[in-house]
Formats: sequence, C-alpha cells, structure tokens
Amino acid sequence: MSTEVKSKRITVRDIRQMKGGQPIVVLTAYTTPIARLLDPQVDMLLVGDSLGMVLYGMDTTLGVSLEMMIAHGQAVMRGSERACVIIDLPFGSYQESPQQAFRNAARVMAETGAAGVKLEGGAEMAETIEFLANRGVPVLAHIGLKPQAVHAMGGFRAQGRLEEEAAVIRSDARAVAEAGAFAVVIEGTVEPVARAVSQELAIPTIGIGASPQCDGQVLVTEDILGLFGSFTPRFVKRYAELAGQVEAAAQAYAADVRCRAFPAAEHCFGAPKRSAE
Ligand code: KIV
Repeated sequence: MSTEVKSKRITVRDIRQMKGGQPIVVLTAYTTPIARLLDPQVDMLLVGDSLGMVLYGMDTTLGVSLEMMIAHGQAVMRGSERACVIIDLPFGSYQESPQQAFRNAARVMAETGAAGVKLEGGAEMAETIEFLANRGVPVLAHIGLKPQAVHAMGGFRAQGRLEEEAAVIRSDARAVAEAGAFAVVIEGTVEPVARAVSQELAIPTIGIGASPQCDGQVLVTEDILGLFGSFTPRFVKRYAELAGQVEAAAQAYAADVRCRAFPAAEHCFGAPKRSAE
C-alpha cells in the first residue's frame, strides 16, 4: 500500500523550486468565494492578518486573533484546491518563545490543513523559524516593513533608505534563510535593497512595495479590486474599481425596493402571473 500523500496543490517545495524562474504569483484571500475566484490564477493564497484592517475595519493588524486566522484559513482552504495556502500567525501568537510559536502554528496547520505559516521578523525570529522548520512547520518569513511592528517602526514607512537600515534588512534576510524559511516576503523596502536581497538569497523573495526583481509578488486582493478605500499604498496597482459597482448595485436595489419594483413575480413563490397587456 502506498503511503504517498496525494495532493493536487502546489507545495512549499514547488514554491521553493521557483526561485529564479517564472515569477511566483501571490494574492491574499480571506473568504471562500474570493479563494474560489483566485485559486486558478495564483501559485499561493496568503491568508494575511491584513484581514483585520480590510474586513474588520481595524486601524492596524494588532487586534487580530489566532481564532480569526483559523476561521478565515478554513474558509480559504474550502474555496481552493490548487494554490499553496499560507496563513499568517497574528501578533502575540509567536513572539514569546519558539514553543509558543510551535503550539500556535501546529493549531493553525492542524485545524485548517494549510501548507505553512507566515511570521514577521528577521534575525530576532531566526531561532523560532529553525524550531518550527525542524518540526515540520514550513515558514514564510516577512522582513522589511513589518506591519505588526508599526508602533515600534514609527508608522507605515518605506524601509532601507538609510545605510544602517539596509544592512539590517540584508542580514535579516540571510538569517531567516539560514534558519530554514522556505521563502521570504519583503515589504515596503527600497528597490535596490530588495533587489540585492533577491540576488543574494537561495530562497525565493516575494515582494510587496519592493522590486520587480523579487522572485514573486504579493498584493492585497481588495486593493487591486478597488474595494478597500481607507488607504491605498503607492505600491498598489488597481486592476478594477469594484467599489463604484457595489455602490451602484446597492443604489439600484434600494430604488427598486422603495418603488416596489423588487421583488417581481418571478422572484416570488406562487404569485399570480401578470396577464399580458
Ligand atoms: O497580512 C498580509 O496580507 C500580508 C501581505 C500583504 C504580505 O502580510
């Protein structure tokens, strides 16, 4: 009897092997219907803790809980069959110790079936990344602008402009790669630094506000669809303007309800058919 695990999904090993090849396509997904629409188009679906801001209206990602990540991770797994699904570990669920990180990462993986977790941090998280990677938890690291450290970093601002900052990002990148991360997200980092990191590392880099030379790119789906209006970072390219369509649909529905044009006979059960005039 074969004990091979059969899966149609792209694995973290496949992602790792895409280093230097065709760019890796990543989008965020938080719900089943959106995962269904994105799944055939992307290599990886990231259930990012950005969901706190995008779906729940929070000002930062700091209030996102492990339970929220697990619930949305399950929803995305239900809506996808091909993409490699990675789930963010939220603030406070992994920074305390490698043991705490393992406990929570194991819950995320066991309760969702996702392929791995993402955590923010560079050299300071290397011990944790190694601990997880050695125990069967694939880790996508996240360096440069780290939204969970927004207060410590003095706001959402591009990283790596100063020489000391650039040196920290480069040594963070080396540290997470040596610790066993299968890939690394580089966020909000000046282009030359992101490019240099991508050339130096043996693992794939996934850029967001970073460089076209990264091995892959990730964006927040609601940003590219024009659905998240509160704040659009300059690195976002809009591929649709759905907010306007949603407003127009809601306006048309409201008008129909108010003048009793909806529901019509075809939307009702057993309603008398209108006679032909
Ligand atoms: O939380 C998130 O969605 C992210 C990506 C934008 C990289 O971390």
